[in-house]
Amino acid sequence: MTSATATSIDRRIFFLGVNPGYAPNGVPDSRYVEFYQRRASSRLYCAIVGNVVVPGGYSSNNATPKLTSDGVWASVAGAIAEKGSLPGIQLATAWEGYAGIRKFVGAEPGQVIAAARALVEGIGAGGIDRALTEFDEAAQIAIGHGFRHIQCHAAHGYLLSLLVDDRINRDAERVLDRLADLADRLASSQVETSIRISLRTGDVRFDATGTDRFHDRIAALPFDYIDLSSGFYNIDKRLIYPSRFDVQVDRIAESRGVAERNPAKAFILSGRAWQAKTDELPTNMHIGVCRDLIANPDFLDDPGNGCRNRNKCHYFSRGEEYLVCALWSKDVGGRSHLPVKV
Ligand SMILES: Cc1cc2nc3c(=O)[nH]c(=O)nc-3n(C[C@H](O)[C@H](O)[C@H](O)COP(=O)(O)O)c2cc1C
Repeated sequence: MTSATATSIDRRIFFLGVNPGYAPNGVPDSRYVEFYQRRASSRLYCAIVGNVVVPGGYSSNNATPKLTSDGVWASVAGAIAEKGSLPGIQLATAWEGYAGIRKFVGAEPGQVIAAARALVEGIGAGGIDRALTEFDEAAQIAIGHGFRHIQCHAAHGYLLSLLVDDRINRDAERVLDRLADLADRLASSQVETSIRISLRTGDVRFDATGTDRFHDRIAALPFDYIDLSSGFYNIDKRLIYPSRFDVQVDRIAESRGVAERNPAKAFILSGRAWQAKTDELPTNMHIGVCRDLIANPDFLDDPGNGCRNRNKCHYFSRGEEYLVCALWSKDVGGRSHLPVKV
């Protein structure tokens, strides 16, 4: 069962967080605005602009956009809203000295987890409070620019994903209380919220214990949606962007498990979600789409023509500066965004 079902039973469709890299020195340029303008539509419920660094925060790479008072952010939000989608923004930070790996699978998952625990310990309560305050301030700036859905990026091994998990941060409850407070305040301003988490880190030993409990604790937070991703960037990127069928099947099964255990909460399914048997999904699961919409801006009207797994979009892993797709008719720095019919 495919797309027709996805829409006919009224599941909301989200354009998942993407950092397209069209942001020299952290400032989005016209390619960035056009990228989102071209993909937003009345069929797309919400477009979540990806991995935007909170003021005072740290980028995960040189092409990461930074949230400032620059009017370009209002142009991004306005372009999305004009086309009929809710403008969303994913707020994130890494930390000083963070470096993403270029390879898809890291050599030492256990060391990544150990380093994460040491990092959190070193940041301390004061540093954690400052980081959370930056998220509060960023949310207000984003709302001022016109964003109406705020996502906290607590996935993929970036700072928040370490802070919210008590298997990494012994003080995680205090962080969760502050995030709950942020979600409540945004709700009272009629701003929609979500939090993105990773179902697994990719470190098999770490993931073997406490995973369901962690998911259920996050599901209890007062965010409108829990966006279920997977993988830590420096452990196993194949979990973040599943291409193999078995990885996709596992991801959908794990996501379903969380949604079924928490029927009162809404979830966003990702990882080739469009190909899931949507009529069999719990009704509290909505559909997140990324690579298909990157490949074809008109994917929601033309769902037979999406991503073909050519992997060119993984620009950071390939040592490139910005997003391209093998299916676009030409590489003009992302301006064309038109799929080649193959
Ligand atoms: C080029 C590219 C950039 C991405 N950037 C982000 C990002 O900034 N934040 C994020 O949470 N996920 C990011 N992702 C992951 C996607 O949001 C999505 O979870 C993943 O691609 C799986 O969904 P899909 O199978 O529909 O592509 C990115 C993916 C790609 C391919």
